[in-house]
Amino acid sequence: MKIANATILITGANRGIGRALVEAALARGAAKVYAGARQPEGLAFADPRVVPLALDVTDAASVAAAAAAAGDVGLLVNNAGVAEFGDILAPGAAESLRRQAAVNVFGLLAVTQAFVPAVTAAATTGAGGVIVNLLSVVSLAPMAALAPYSVSKAAAHSVTGALRTALKPAGVGVHGVFPGPVDTDMAKDMPMAKAAPIDVANAIYDGVEAGAEDIYPDAMAAGVGAGWAQGPKAIEAAFAAM
Ligand SMILES: NC(=O)c1ccc[n+]([C@@H]2O[C@H](COP(=O)([O-])OP(=O)(O)OC[C@H]3O[C@@H](n4cnc5c(N)ncnc54)[C@H](OP(=O)(O)O)[C@@H]3O)[C@@H](O)[C@H]2O)c1
Repeated sequence: MKIANATILITGANRGIGRALVEAALARGAAKVYAGARQPEGLAFADPRVVPLALDVTDAASVAAAAAAAGDVGLLVNNAGVAEFGDILAPGAAESLRRQAAVNVFGLLAVTQAFVPAVTAAATTGAGGVIVNLLSVVSLAPMAALAPYSVSKAAAHSVTGALRTALKPAGVGVHGVFPGPVDTDMAKDMPMAKAAPIDVANAIYDGVEAGAEDIYPDAMAAGVGAGWAQGPKAIEAAFAAM
């Protein structure tokens, strides 16, 4: 699908990659961009095509209200996410995983289920029919310092594949995005080279427009993707050493 003239919902649109996805969609000529945020009153987009939408992906009532208010969504971007540093053997690892899975897995699934009617309808009219899930390179193999986060993102990767299979008969395309480090609040304590959010956002839309099911939107991600295609064990070993 093309971003030009599309009606798009981006979750977690108030900062980071989500905010960049809004800006890139506007620059590419999107017709309407629903900017999902827990506190939409804090959104500061001047463009009249941006529609602030209250959306906490962990709150069933919030998700239902958002779906009722935005029935014309043709492209859903599940971007909202949380990340905590932590070792898999730390005493609080299970609780950390629960907190992160609530957003990164169950939130993603709840929002997707709520918007499937809209996205499916858009697929039949040619107005869209696409879902994009923000995963991570650590969906493919765990990083020791981000172990519970990695587990949540691996689960989100599996959910993405299951959704792709389930929605294919309806003509809905499901894309997984596997970024490396991106220069946002989430990665502020990661001392490594990071991609710019706007470059990642544009690479995501390039991937959607090209029909790429797996999108590696930055240089580090592209390297991991190429390594993954050769065999996952090398990626697992490299990440374990980080
Ligand atoms: N940055 C990276 O290096 C990196 C790398 C790979 C993948 N990713 C993924 O890319 C996505 C965006 O990350 P980011 O770097 O932009 O992170 P970020 O700067 O920390 O922003 C996270 C966004 O998610 C929102 N969010 C968190 N919990 C939410 C909830 N319960 N309901 C609705 N929104 C919620 C936040 O809203 P509030 O402001 O209300 O908290 C914020 O808008 C995430 O899925 C992340 O896992 C990031």
